[in-house]
Amino acid sequence: MALERRIAIIGGTGMNQWPGLQIQRRDERTTRYGAPSAPLLLGRVDGVEACFLARHGEGHKIPPHLINYRANLCALRDAGITDVIAIAAVGGITPGYAPAAVGVPHDAIDYTFGREHTLSDGSADSQLHHVEMEHPYHPALRAALIAAAQAAHVAIADQGVMGVTQGPRLETPAEIRRAQRDGCDMIGMTSFPEAPLAIELGLRYACLAVSVNWCAGLNTGSAGIHAEIEQSVAQGMAKVRTILAGAMPA
Ligand code: HPA
Repeated sequence: MALERRIAIIGGTGMNQWPGLQIQRRDERTTRYGAPSAPLLLGRVDGVEACFLARHGEGHKIPPHLINYRANLCALRDAGITDVIAIAAVGGITPGYAPAAVGVPHDAIDYTFGREHTLSDGSADSQLHHVEMEHPYHPALRAALIAAAQAAHVAIADQGVMGVTQGPRLETPAEIRRAQRDGCDMIGMTSFPEAPLAIELGLRYACLAVSVNWCAGLNTGSAGIHAEIEQSVAQGMAKVRTILAGAMPA
């Protein structure tokens, strides 16, 4: 029998709630790593069971470096989730990730430091896993998101390299030039350690990246990054909601 897929959305900046979700239950579970960022919101989207977790907490106060990623992913796994779609606001570097563009990254570089990034923590009851990172984002889940976008006639970048920085500050122009040389198409702050932890837990994980600004040094406009973010976030998140509606299993 095929495994029944149960999807969770981890919402980030610009998507602290899932407007299509009819909430039926708040699941306040905790884990051996502590409590997740917020209760899991369980309910239905267009009649399909779904789950939502606010990555930065319900008040959107937890910065990227202080998120308890291990608790978030363990709570989802313990709740029976099989597939995680992570929504991430990013800064764009290459033309496919201009502000308000949406894409599904296929590869990533970790520039973060000091985060609790693995379940292999050396404790007596933990196991040492050298998980493969050949596909940091699950190919079949990425394909489902791309297909949902195409069916809804929403333009989507079907690949991209995500650079993940520590935040919460944005990058300097020199840091962005280095990321550009490294091959990054966009910069976000949360795919590490979210993606590898999902892999350690056997979850399928993909990211819908929403560009909300050009990265530092690339902005040719005069309004500045924060004005650009304000303009792009609503437009990008509207696309995300359309894609998600089509990506839910029938
Ligand atoms: N850099 C890193 N993360 C981001 C950015 C950025 O410019 N914009 C939104 N998230």
